[in-house]
Amino acid sequence: MPPAEIDLTVYPDECDAFGHLNQASFLSLFERARWEMLARGPGMDVFTRAGVWPAVRKTGIDYHAPAFPGDVLRFQQALTHHGRTSFTMRQTARRVRDDALIATAEFVFVCIDREGKPVPVPAEVVGYMSGTASGGDARRVTVNGVRIAVDVVGEGPAILFVHGYPLDRSMWRHQLDNLSGFTRIAPDLRGMGDSDAPDLGYSMTTYADDLAALLDTLGIDEFVLCGLSMGGYVAFEVLRQHRRRVRGLVLVDTRAEADSSEGRKGRDAQAASAREHGPRAIADAMLPKLFASPDPESVGSAWKRVEEMILKAPVPGIVGALTAMRDRPDSTGLLPLLSGIPTLVIVGEEDRLTPLANARTMAELIPGAQLAVIPGAGHLPPVESPAETTRAMAEFLKARD
Ligand code: MLT
Repeated sequence: MPPAEIDLTVYPDECDAFGHLNQASFLSLFERARWEMLARGPGMDVFTRAGVWPAVRKTGIDYHAPAFPGDVLRFQQALTHHGRTSFTMRQTARRVRDDALIATAEFVFVCIDREGKPVPVPAEVVGYMSGTASGGDARRVTVNGVRIAVDVVGEGPAILFVHGYPLDRSMWRHQLDNLSGFTRIAPDLRGMGDSDAPDLGYSMTTYADDLAALLDTLGIDEFVLCGLSMGGYVAFEVLRQHRRRVRGLVLVDTRAEADSSEGRKGRDAQAASAREHGPRAIADAMLPKLFASPDPESVGSAWKRVEEMILKAPVPGIVGALTAMRDRPDSTGLLPLLSGIPTLVIVGEEDRLTPLANARTMAELIPGAQLAVIPGAGHLPPVESPAETTRAMAEFLKARD
């Protein structure tokens, strides 16, 4: 797993007469960040050990803001593509002091031997860079000042998976493992899972902004958007802010309506309970409602998995999510405006929180939307009936192509 970030300082001799970091030095900082990353992992000699050299074939840099002597720039690098002999690395540089995006760059490398002939990219480099070398640990990407944990798996058109409350990206495990032919991206929202949990700053808008910035950092413009329950509320906000980028929509066990006034009071009561008793109280209140059956014995291992996710959720993240859900706008009016975005609505037949009738109405309101009902599942079909859910998604995605 590569280090998420490399910090490098801008020196006066790297700047032009106006005191701005000059272009040549920019290039060398990007290069230094790449070598530094390798030095902290498989070693700077990882290519020479394999008898190959990564030759730069193409470079594109977007400069967003000037950098000055003394600025500390934080470089993040992501492997955005790899073939047999070539790979593409995307890097971003942000100023640590104010998190300003200073530059983004893309480098295409071809691995060559001593005669200059293309040779395979060393497996060690691909394994390390794609975060699979240590068993698929998440990458961490800083966006809007918050470190977001994210799994990025596979190649092809992108699908962004947004988890429900108060869960994390691991709920999409079956979909990430099995939806081949797509780049599957599953982040932990701020405040959940392995992402940072600041005390303040939670709303549907900040969740959506985080996701857009995360995809920018990963170099992904267009994507299929898939959200479960609270993830669906976030998806509606992404649609409001970034509709152009959304090439397909999968709404899983969610609703478009805002909270009723009683529901809003319930959010405040839950937040008070989380502050006083921690995530255990939330797990005890929620678990019996999340599956087709309220009995842990008949649910089996899915119960334990979800319980672990909830117990791991930081209290500021739980309270933040409750506030964001309490204050979210009504999205019903958005549904008829989604024509042109192929949409699949999925619902567990036994969902007691966002029931089948609700999903049916939502599918009727979205022009051309399909409805898939997962038999024997409650509110969390991707976890409770993973194979059926993945199959429904795969069929939809195939038909969409
Ligand atoms: C979820 O699963 O994300 C929550 O049940 C959503 C909600 O409480 O409205």
